[in-house]
Amino acid sequence: MISKNRKLQISCDGGAATGKSTGAKLIANKFKLKFLSSGLLYRYAGYVLIKYKPKKRIFFLKQKFSKLKYKNLNKMNLYTPEISQYSSIIAKNYKIRKILKNFQIKFATKNKNCCIEGRDISTKILPKSDVKFYFRCNLNIAALRRYKELKKKDKKINLKDVKKALRIRNNHDTKRKNSPLLKHRDAIEIDTGKLNKKAMLKKMTKHVNLTIGNKYGI
Ligand code: C5P
Repeated sequence: MISKNRKLQISCDGGAATGKSTGAKLIANKFKLKFLSSGLLYRYAGYVLIKYKPKKRIFFLKQKFSKLKYKNLNKMNLYTPEISQYSSIIAKNYKIRKILKNFQIKFATKNKNCCIEGRDISTKILPKSDVKFYFRCNLNIAALRRYKELKKKDKKINLKDVKKALRIRNNHDTKRKNSPLLKHRDAIEIDTGKLNKKAMLKKMTKHVNLTIGNKYGI
């Protein structure tokens, strides 16, 4: 737990379906930090652009995000293959990234003790975060994981397509010009293909405790 006058910010980055959301949620819960998945913001932006097809996309998104209550995103189904793919296309757009960056910065300013996960959190959104994690996972394992989640809602889904979609999305995210997915030099690597949830949380907790110890001298 983090006491009142201490500040703790954690950033988590990684490729698609690497388990970064699970890891980030576990560590946020353990240290009572407010949690934000920035991927959900990109998915929401993709969703509203597909749904409303606005002519003035930037103006429209600015309005949508000024009214957005993050909590409501969890109730929406934003993990469809269509939204996944489209969100990674619009994520290349500098102006769209700027709107979502503002939303994330406001969140981190309001919630001093927070954990945000995404692609550019350690490099662009919270470069001063106390602990940085970088999630990795073998593509076959990541694909199987995402396939099992999607299969619950869509019986026709097949593993080969899921794997291909993840590969394409990771390519978009690592090769784009604006804020590509990068491993920050201070980031601690978490390989979720090799660690189960318990071992992952243990490793993350160890690093967070070390940081708190160094920062506050305990
Ligand atoms: O993390 P998730 O897979 O839900 O993210 C969906 C997409 O949103 C990613 O493929 C990526 O293109 C984009 N994204 C991003 N920067 C972030 C988080 C997500 O570009 N910080």
